[in-house]
Amino acid sequence: MDQKMKADVLEGFEKVFGKNDNVKAYFAPGRVNLIGEHTDYNGGHVFPCALTIGTYGAAAKRDDRKMRFFSMNFENSRVIEASLDDLESSKTAGWTAYPVGVVWAFEKRGFKLDKGFDMCIFGNIPNGSGLSSSASLEVLTGFIIRDLFGFDVTNQDLALIGQYSENNFNGCNCGIMDQFASAMGKENNAIFLDTSDLSFEYAPITLKGAKIVIANTNKKHKLTDSQYNARRSACEKALEELQAVVDIKGLGDLTPEEFEKHKDAIKDDDRRTKAKHAVYENQRTLDAVKALKAGDLEKFGQLMKESHISLRDDYDVTGIELDTLAEEAWKIPGVIGSRMTGGGFGGCTVSIVKDEAVEEFKEKVGKAYKDKIGYDATFYTVEIGSGPAVI
Ligand code: GLA
Repeated sequence: MDQKMKADVLEGFEKVFGKNDNVKAYFAPGRVNLIGEHTDYNGGHVFPCALTIGTYGAAAKRDDRKMRFFSMNFENSRVIEASLDDLESSKTAGWTAYPVGVVWAFEKRGFKLDKGFDMCIFGNIPNGSGLSSSASLEVLTGFIIRDLFGFDVTNQDLALIGQYSENNFNGCNCGIMDQFASAMGKENNAIFLDTSDLSFEYAPITLKGAKIVIANTNKKHKLTDSQYNARRSACEKALEELQAVVDIKGLGDLTPEEFEKHKDAIKDDDRRTKAKHAVYENQRTLDAVKALKAGDLEKFGQLMKESHISLRDDYDVTGIELDTLAEEAWKIPGVIGSRMTGGGFGGCTVSIVKDEAVEEFKEKVGKAYKDKIGYDATFYTVEIGSGPAVI
């Protein structure tokens, strides 16, 4: 937890909303996914971890039915107001559609807020980096609401509430991975999650002599939501076609061998290739966790690379920016593994890099990226943090 961020968000609250003796500070983390990409809406496995960067919030209950929001992340930011009596109109209100969506999702579950609240936020996840700033904001809001109103919901419920609001209020059909990783994060552990039934296990990540390094493409103008939803629809259609010949609930139920046996049931080439990614990526995730448990980091890194190649060639969600970062990383001997992370189409890669190669990695990959793409990538060494908390 960053004490400075905490002090800043409390100060920001006071400046904008005035002094309030009941104000409290909160934090919810962003996440990085180590492997298992685009498997979470296919009933497959994922392997993310929460980060020590995320969204800080300061909040207090009000005496009326107003909600007021302020973000310290934008220049010329202003207070945005909403009302508990008209949640729907916030759907088009920019970033406040996320916290209001969470209030809406609580109400759908029967948890009605009697009063509104004031909330100031300040995040240290780079904007649009694909490290789940939106999921961390959803989990933060859910956590704050639980704390202020005493609702009886678990952290896992907070993840589901966040996903529900993102799907039904914000129009992105995301899976459960991001919200789950943020709500259930555990320091120094990744979460091995089976998205078909939400059973999970923590796996200690003790990278002796290596670090997790994130490289941000800094790519602007993403059309992520529509492309993302299109991938998801292709998988759903492929699943329907497969269900005519084999008894499965999700693509994650198939082994690669079973997929090869039944794949002709999928009538369209493109859809077949997308479904192939989902099935093989799930297998890679199972294999990667096994390798990690056996202490075989080399194998883990090799699977990260195969994951990227599949996301590039079969799932088609990388693009020249992410490909350049990953492909340049693979050339460096001290890089154990490197791949895109998150939804794709921009955002970040995640790499496991030996301590002594971190500087070389940043320098060489950074230079090659600038030469090819024309602007800089940004690099961060990250740590695995815990879930949401009152701070
Ligand atoms: C985004 C979504 C997640 C997941 C990833 C891809 O981050 O929010 O649910 O589908 O993309 O693995």
